[in-house]
Amino acid sequence: MVQLTPPGAIKVSVLHGPNLNLLGVRDPDHYGKDDFDQVNKRIKEYAKSIGVEVRIFQSNSEGAIIDAIQEARTWAEAIVINPGAYTHYSYAIRDALADSRLPVIEVHVSNVYAREEFRRNSVIAPICTGQIAGFGTRSYLLAIEAVKGLVEESHR
Ligand code: DQA
Repeated sequence: MVQLTPPGAIKVSVLHGPNLNLLGVRDPDHYGKDDFDQVNKRIKEYAKSIGVEVRIFQSNSEGAIIDAIQEARTWAEAIVINPGAYTHYSYAIRDALADSRLPVIEVHVSNVYAREEFRRNSVIAPICTGQIAGFGTRSYLLAIEAVKGLVEESHR
């Protein structure tokens, strides 16, 4: 059955950073077995089912992610981003997210706090509304649910 996004759906930009195109192939112990296309399909279906319209973008390069963040300012009401390894050191992505003035949820598939020391620090988290980590690819769905609540509250 074709599920139509209802008019007035909340618009969310979902951004995947470097190496996340290899979900399902890379390190399945940390990132699970679902491949990138399956994950995006689940995100889209779940979002639609709760009245959220998502546009999904992935890049391995910092500049392209920054361009996508700047573009999101023109149409999105929130950003869900898994910055991959850029989480730990990209001040440029942090600045772009802060300058977007949109609510931002940082997502991680793995529990970054249970891994190597360098993964425990996020330069992105301080400018985010919140962070969801460690629920496997379900982390994205939890983030979509969270932004829906946030945006709805901001409309009240
Ligand atoms: C990740 C965690 C990062 O430390 C890592 O570099 C990734 C994926 C995650 O989703 O768990 O690429 O963001």
